[in-house]
Amino acid sequence: MKISVIGTGYVGLIQAVGLAEFGFNVVGIDIDETKVKQLNKGKCPLYEEGLEELLKKHINKNLTFTTSYEPIKDSDVIFLCVGTPQDRDGNADLRFLFSAVEKIKETISKDDYKVIVIKSTVPVGTNRKVKELLSEYNVDVVSNPEFLREGIAVYDFFNPERIVLGFENLKNKKPIKIMESIYYCFKEKNIPFVITNWETAELIKYASNAFLATKLSFINELAKLSDKVGADIKTVSYAMGLDPRIGNKFLNAGIGYGGSCFPKDVKALIKQFENNNIDPILIKATDKVNEEQIKWFFEKIKNYYGDLNGKVFAVLGLAFKPNTDDLRESRAIKLIDILLEEGTIVKGFDYVKKARENTINMYKFDKTKAFYGYNLYILDDLYETVKDVDGIIITVEYDRFNKEDWEKIANLVKEKVIFDGRNILNVEKIKKLGFRYHGVGR
Ligand SMILES: NC(=O)c1ccc[n+]([C@@H]2O[C@H](COP(=O)([O-])OP(=O)(O)OC[C@H]3O[C@@H](n4cnc5c(N)ncnc54)[C@H](O)[C@@H]3O)[C@@H](O)[C@H]2O)c1
Repeated sequence: MKISVIGTGYVGLIQAVGLAEFGFNVVGIDIDETKVKQLNKGKCPLYEEGLEELLKKHINKNLTFTTSYEPIKDSDVIFLCVGTPQDRDGNADLRFLFSAVEKIKETISKDDYKVIVIKSTVPVGTNRKVKELLSEYNVDVVSNPEFLREGIAVYDFFNPERIVLGFENLKNKKPIKIMESIYYCFKEKNIPFVITNWETAELIKYASNAFLATKLSFINELAKLSDKVGADIKTVSYAMGLDPRIGNKFLNAGIGYGGSCFPKDVKALIKQFENNNIDPILIKATDKVNEEQIKWFFEKIKNYYGDLNGKVFAVLGLAFKPNTDDLRESRAIKLIDILLEEGTIVKGFDYVKKARENTINMYKFDKTKAFYGYNLYILDDLYETVKDVDGIIITVEYDRFNKEDWEKIANLVKEKVIFDGRNILNVEKIKKLGFRYHGVGR
């Protein structure tokens, strides 16, 4: 079976490489020429553990990349993995998706049967719209939302928790059989398949992300009260999580969720409610709590120092989560922006080299940020980063921070103060070294 994957970002690239590993002939198509050139040389334009090795294994064998849509003529299945960012009103911006569909229309012949699979996260009704646009073509459209987690995306591709497939008509077995044959090895591993209609599949994706975001906003809001009343939110989360009905995942209080999915998907879900004349009370609150959380944490820092002008901070963590280079909606970047605006000097560090490079480029080339970039230093070494600072701020949930030499760090800083925005540090150990510790809700 020949497969094309349109859009080779975090989702599409992993899909293309993963399907090549399954033995399919795969062509990845992207409008970004630089990316395509890099990929054909076996170089990964983004960081995900294990991805470059797999890319190198298959490139120019059963995997190639191109900017041309021509290869879709020979493809049996076409996966759509283009971005669906947020538009100015909060809706999902489907420009990239519809432009890809237009190109498909221009390229394929009306009689050749193809399965078009939408992996991008799209609002309810989008698969139906795509089918309408392709009504004169011999195609079946399948909704196959993606659930991978950046940072462990390659692992997630090979070990999904479920495969969700939405179809126009469940009596039409042809596309169902084709999708099942692509994901045959997941069937063998007894991974649950949810076979349903388009609308349900589309809503499953938004419901899952919004639920996880709500769990986070719930504990983050509770952390504010915990802070005031002298409770320890980490113990609260731990004890709550022992109840299997609640579970301990996504219950660690912090400075809010970021990334390329949760913020925009929560907002897009709100819009879908509103477009259907329903007030999404709970999900709106989830979004609001998240927007406020970083400001609340910043106030905590400001209250401690009083005047922040000229203070030097080490911000440990730049990307939106550990082990990724993705800065989209990163809380670290949001906090750095606020700190720089207050006249502080920021020394930033992330374990992922590409996250550091992306940050430098962002502050160099983004016109809204370039000015502040003068007071921002991105360093390759954690110990250099903490040298002579007035405070350390932890922004990404790296357990690795606990393995660092904190005695050495204590000797390097100017003032022994830590703001742990992810409640990740071993507080006892840190306090023993004379640090003043400020967590989130503890
Ligand atoms: N990143 C994640 O963790 C994640 C997880 C689950 C679902 N999703 C969803 O998957 C989709 C893709 O996300 P992503 O993070 O991979 O996006 P991305 O921005 O990393 O990649 C999108 C790619 O599509 C390319 N592109 C845009 N228009 C194109 C066109 N017309 N033809 C060919 N290529 C085109 C871009 O150049 C880019 O390389 C989104 O809908 C997102 O919400 C993302």
